[in-house]
Amino acid sequence: MEKISVGVLGATGVVGQMFVKLLENHPWFELTELAASERSSGKDYEEALEGRGIVSDQIPEYARNLKVKSCEPNLDCELVFSALDSNIALKTEEEFAKAGYAVSSKASSHRMDKDVPLIIPEVNPEHLGLIDVQRRKRGWKGFIVTDPNCSTIHMVLALKPLYDSFGIDKVMVTTMQSVSGAGYAGVSSLEIIDNVIPYIKNEEDKLENEPLKIFGTLSDSEINHAKMDISAQCNRVGVKYGHTESLSIKLSERAEEKDIIDSFNKFNPLKDLGLPSAPKRPVIYDRREDRPQPRLDLSPENGMASVVGRLRKCNILDYKFVVLGHNIIRGAAGAAILDAELLKIKGYVGQ
Ligand SMILES: NC(=O)c1ccc[n+]([C@@H]2O[C@H](COP(=O)([O-])OP(=O)(O)OC[C@H]3O[C@@H](n4cnc5c(N)ncnc54)[C@H](OP(=O)(O)O)[C@@H]3O)[C@@H](O)[C@H]2O)c1
Repeated sequence: MEKISVGVLGATGVVGQMFVKLLENHPWFELTELAASERSSGKDYEEALEGRGIVSDQIPEYARNLKVKSCEPNLDCELVFSALDSNIALKTEEEFAKAGYAVSSKASSHRMDKDVPLIIPEVNPEHLGLIDVQRRKRGWKGFIVTDPNCSTIHMVLALKPLYDSFGIDKVMVTTMQSVSGAGYAGVSSLEIIDNVIPYIKNEEDKLENEPLKIFGTLSDSEINHAKMDISAQCNRVGVKYGHTESLSIKLSERAEEKDIIDSFNKFNPLKDLGLPSAPKRPVIYDRREDRPQPRLDLSPENGMASVVGRLRKCNILDYKFVVLGHNIIRGAAGAAILDAELLKIKGYVGQ
């Protein structure tokens, strides 16, 4: 099979570096283009990353000498992964889609646009139907597909099996998010060491609203948002990778603890699709009383799963539990690559 050529916009950032790492030897995609800001463009990737080896000590050999270009829509590839700052992504992604590229984005700029799919392949693959609406409405040859905020992804993956089996009326979530979630320049070490910062700009809004679109239903040309009350509190903590989330939920129907754990463990809607990055167990329930922990439990399924633990009765809502997920893999680069794999098998790229 001929591989689909892909590029990474924002290739030098925390998420961009993870794209480069995960795309090495990808069976369907070949990374041909890297792009970033004027600070990096014109340099070899290795040179552009000097002193910034945050994601891995080793820059993948195949990418070391690739030239970093500027984010102009003249790259030699069919699809671009966008790991740009959202204020830059807003216009740049539109320019790429207009010029005919498929854009699979990690930025928040277009997530809530009415004609842009916000996808988790295990949860709402049918929302890709919005691509046709988007192309008709905007007159673009290409298109933009987004995936959710890194904390939203793990929360929604854990909620989806329960949503399907019992319905969900209310969710209260408190996050403890790692420093890598803020990007390379991120939070200053003097602010985060020995500290918890109870504020992440715009994050609570994303956790409260993105799930309603994701759980929504696609009618002819738009998503009818789901009805669910979500209240989020987001904190930045001194952890390098991995977002931990404490949830309390009110279900629409009564459920026993055992049924809930069964529904987590049985959840595997992508099993017959053969997507190379799809985890075999997207949601893993860990029965140990003090787990999951970011230092110990981040990497099952190559960082593509959400790990759930500590399920117990809640005195205010019905049940409470903890969710942990890798913010850069399943929360970012791995998620967008999985979206692109779905785009391929649905015929939106590689034709
Ligand atoms: N970190 C996470 O856990 C995470 C998770 C989910 C989603 N996201 C989203 O993913 C995106 C990237 O996040 P990150 O954490 O990787 O950020 P980051 O480490 O700050 O990287 C930002 C990237 O954008 C490039 N860039 C900045 N200004 C630019 C410009 N004017 N023109 C072109 N490129 C420009 C940077 O290039 P230079 O190096 O050349 O400056 C760098 O490659 C953001 O939208 C973020 O919200 C992040």
